[in-house]
Amino acid sequence: MNYDEFADLYDHQYDLYRDDLHFYAGVAERAGGRVLEVGAGTGRVTTFLARRGVKVVGLEPSARMIERAQARAARDGLQPEFVQGDVRTFQLPERFSLLLAPFNALMHLYTPNEQLQALENLRAHVEPGTPFVFDLYVPRFGKMNTLRHEGETFHTPEGARRDVFLVQRHDKPRQHITTEYFVDTTAPGGALSRQHFTLTQRYYTRYEVEWLLRFAGFESPRVSGSFQGGPLEATSDVMVFHTRAI
Ligand SMILES: C[S@@+](CC[C@H](N)C(=O)[O-])C[C@H]1O[C@@H](n2cnc3c(N)ncnc32)[C@H](O)[C@@H]1O
Repeated sequence: MNYDEFADLYDHQYDLYRDDLHFYAGVAERAGGRVLEVGAGTGRVTTFLARRGVKVVGLEPSARMIERAQARAARDGLQPEFVQGDVRTFQLPERFSLLLAPFNALMHLYTPNEQLQALENLRAHVEPGTPFVFDLYVPRFGKMNTLRHEGETFHTPEGARRDVFLVQRHDKPRQHITTEYFVDTTAPGGALSRQHFTLTQRYYTRYEVEWLLRFAGFESPRVSGSFQGGPLEATSDVMVFHTRAI
């Protein structure tokens, strides 16, 4: 999954998402040392951590996302380290004191082989006992195959209006959700143009993550249903996993 084309829309959509920031900052501050953040994206979490004095390395495959992340950090006078790479194959000489994968970053691993390759590679970058904390959304979806507008309308500095429409398809046997985005821009003079993006995510159930972790050399995780630490319940939106390398 290449996020290059998606980078501008990503920031419009998620710049204001802050539910997880204090949680990950707390985890990083308790761990101390150097932190690896998997799928750092446009640096939403990376910059927040760096602002709190955390030594964070953001791993991210998309050059365009890294560019935006560096620009975001620079606006705050910060320079966290970014490494362009894939979680399945990156190789760094150091052993980190904490692994983080915020906001569904592991949902771009589409088969059990890709998932195991990623987890085993992460395991190879830490010593036994090192914590690994990440979150995934609970698979619960809106109406499939139906064009929706979920209230995402933005106004650009040039005076254009941008409306985001989406349609989702569910491939149940593969546990894939594919979202097609149609981004309509109406210029001040009324001219309309459309961009189209496709994003596929591989969603997880709680116990398959537990088995994957055990198989890849991590402890059976503690799972909560919110960033405040409450239990995972039928109504929870997120699954927050806390494990450690064995
Ligand atoms: C949903 S975004 C999360 C971004 C960021 N963590 C945040 O909280 O805003 C997922 C990120 O994972 C990255 N990603 C996709 N495949 C990856 C892979 N194989 N290895 C590492 N990161 C990956 C994407 O490029 C994207 O930036």
